[in-house]
Amino acid sequence: TAPGVALPPASMQSSHTTDVLIVGSGVAGLSLALRLADTAKVIVLAKADLTQGSSLYAQGGVAAVLNDTDSFGAHIQDTLQAGGGLCHPDTVEYTVQRGPAAIRWLIDQGVGFTRELGTDGRPHYHLTREGGHSHRRVIHTADATGKAMETTLAGRVRAHPNITLLENHIAVDLITRRKLGRDGDNRVLGLYALNKPSGHVEVFSARFVMLATGGASKVYLYTSNPDTSTGDGVAMAWRAGCRVANMEFIQFHPTCLYHPLARTLLITEAVRGEGGRLLLPDGKPFMQAHDPRGELASRDVVARAIDFEMKRRGLDCVYLDISHKPADFVRAHFPTIYARLKEYGIDMTRQKIPVVPAAHYTCGGIMTDLHARTDLPGLYAAGECAFTGLHGANRLASNSLLECLVFAEAAADDIRAQLAQAPAAATDLPLWDESRVSDADELVVVSHNWDELRRFMWDYVGIVRTNKRLERAQHRVKLLREEIREYYSNFRINSDLIELRNLALVAELIIRSAQERHESRGLHYSRDYPQLAGEARDTVLTPEHSAGA
Ligand code: FAD
Ligand code: SIN
Repeated sequence: TAPGVALPPASMQSSHTTDVLIVGSGVAGLSLALRLADTAKVIVLAKADLTQGSSLYAQGGVAAVLNDTDSFGAHIQDTLQAGGGLCHPDTVEYTVQRGPAAIRWLIDQGVGFTRELGTDGRPHYHLTREGGHSHRRVIHTADATGKAMETTLAGRVRAHPNITLLENHIAVDLITRRKLGRDGDNRVLGLYALNKPSGHVEVFSARFVMLATGGASKVYLYTSNPDTSTGDGVAMAWRAGCRVANMEFIQFHPTCLYHPLARTLLITEAVRGEGGRLLLPDGKPFMQAHDPRGELASRDVVARAIDFEMKRRGLDCVYLDISHKPADFVRAHFPTIYARLKEYGIDMTRQKIPVVPAAHYTCGGIMTDLHARTDLPGLYAAGECAFTGLHGANRLASNSLLECLVFAEAAADDIRAQLAQAPAAATDLPLWDESRVSDADELVVVSHNWDELRRFMWDYVGIVRTNKRLERAQHRVKLLREEIREYYSNFRINSDLIELRNLALVAELIIRSAQERHESRGLHYSRDYPQLAGEARDTVLTPEHSAGA
C-alpha cells in the first residue's frame, strides 16, 4: 500500500478509472473537459463546489485582438513590455494569435459578452481598457466576466454524458511510476484524492492527468483570491518530480477594497481603464509622479507606487475615485461592484473607494511547453498553476483567462493525438494506507501554522523584499515544514492539513526563487538589488527527490 495515512478497510475504499483526469474546475479545467469529452472519458475533480475558484470572480475580462484598430503585434508588444524582458516570445505569439478563436469558442459555448451600439448603429462587443494595454481589447460581461464564463461552462459540463464531476474531492498527491518503484519512465498513473464528505481517500487511475488547480495567493495574509488558491497543483507536481519556474513573481493587485468587514473584494482595473483616479486621502492624485502612464501604468508599477505612498505617509489605504463620471455610466459598467460597495455603505457614483494592494496572481508555476505538457509523461498543467512563459516578470491584465483557454485547447489537441497509442489506465494502483495514523489530537496546530505562514509571507516576502526579510522567512518556513511533516505522518489527513502542507511548500519555493534573483525586475523588487541584471533569466527550480514531501 502507499505511504499515507488508516482508515476504512480496503473494501470501503473507492477506486476510479478514466482516460483523462482533470484536477480543477476553473476556466482551464472546464475548457479542457469540454474540448475532450466527445473523444474520451473525463473525470473532473473540484475540491469545493464546481464553480468555486478564481475564475468565478474574474471581473475585468479577457484580452484578445478583436477589432481592426488593434493588432497581434500591439498585444504581443504590450505583453512583452509588462513582462519586463522575461516573457518567452514564442509563447506570447502563440497565445495572442489564438486569442480571437478562443473568444469565438466561448461565444459558441453560450457566454454572453457585453455589447454596445457602435458608431455604425450596429451592436458590437464592448472592449474595455486596463493597465499596460495600448488598445481597448478586453472583452467582458459587465464587471462579472468570470461568473458568466464559469457558470456557462459549468452548465455544459454538467450536461455532458462523458464527464463525471466529483465536487468536494481534494487531490492529495500524484501517483507516478517512480513513486511506486517501477522501472521505465516516470509516467503519471493517477492520484489519491480525499472525498471530503466521507473522509475517505480514494484512488484514481488515469491515462492522462491535467493539473488545473489555480494559483497560490492564499499564501499571503491579504489576497483577492478565494480559499481554493492554495498552490496544490504546484506542490503535487513538485513532489512528483516536476520543475517549477519564476515563483518569485507574485502579482499584487493594486486596488482591493479596504474595509474592516470586507473579506476580499477586488475593484477591477477597468475602473481605472474607464477614467478612475488614484488619490491620497487629501484628494491629491499621485500616480503621475511615479509613471508617465499614470493610473494606466502596469500593475507592478501601480501596486508599488501605492505601497510606497502608504508606507511613506503612514496611511492605511489610498482612494480610487470614479465619481466624476456620470452615475448611469458607472452603474452600467460596474453593476456588481456598485452593488457590493453599497453593502458596505459606499456609493461609488458619489464617493471615493478606499483601496489597498493584495496578492492576486501567481505568475510562476509548473513548467510546461506549448502543448501544456509538464516534465512527467502523461501529466499536463494549464491555467494559473502552470508556467508557460507568457507572463514573464509581470502578467499583463486579462491575459490570464486567455492563457487558460489557449492552453486547455493545446492540451486537448495533444491528448487527443495520443489517445490511440498511450498506455491503458493502470489497474493495480495501491490503496491509500492509513494503518499507522490516528485522529489529530490538536487541530489548533494547523490553524496556528496557517496564520503564521500567511503573516510572515505578507511581512517578509511581499511587494518590497530585502535579503534579511527573505532569510527570516526562510528560517520560519523551514521550521513550519518540519512541524507539518511530522503532523502529516502521524495524523489522519483533512483538507486544511492538505492545503497547509501545500502552502508551506509553495511558500518555500517562492522564498527560494526570490533569494536566487539578484536584481529587481517586474514584480520582484529587492532593496538590496534595486537594479536590473544585464541578462534576463528565468528562475528554474528542480526537485532533488521525485517523491519528497
Ligand atoms: P481557478 O479558476 O482558480 O480554479 C481552480 C480549480 O482547482 C478550482 O475548481 C478548485 O476547486 C480546484 N482545485 C485546486 N486544488 C485542488 C485539489 N487539490 N483537488 C481538487 N481540486 C482542486 N484574469 C483575467 O484574465 N481577467 C480578469 O478579469 C481577472 N480578474 C480576476 C479577479 C479576481 C478577483 C481574481 C481572484 C482573479 C482574476 N483574474 C483575472 C485571474 C484569473 O481569474 C485566474 O488566473 C484564472 O481564473 C485561473 O483559472 P484556473 O482555471 O487556472 O483556476
Ligand atoms: C481586474 O479586473 O482588474 C483583474 C484583471 C486581471 O487580473 O487580469
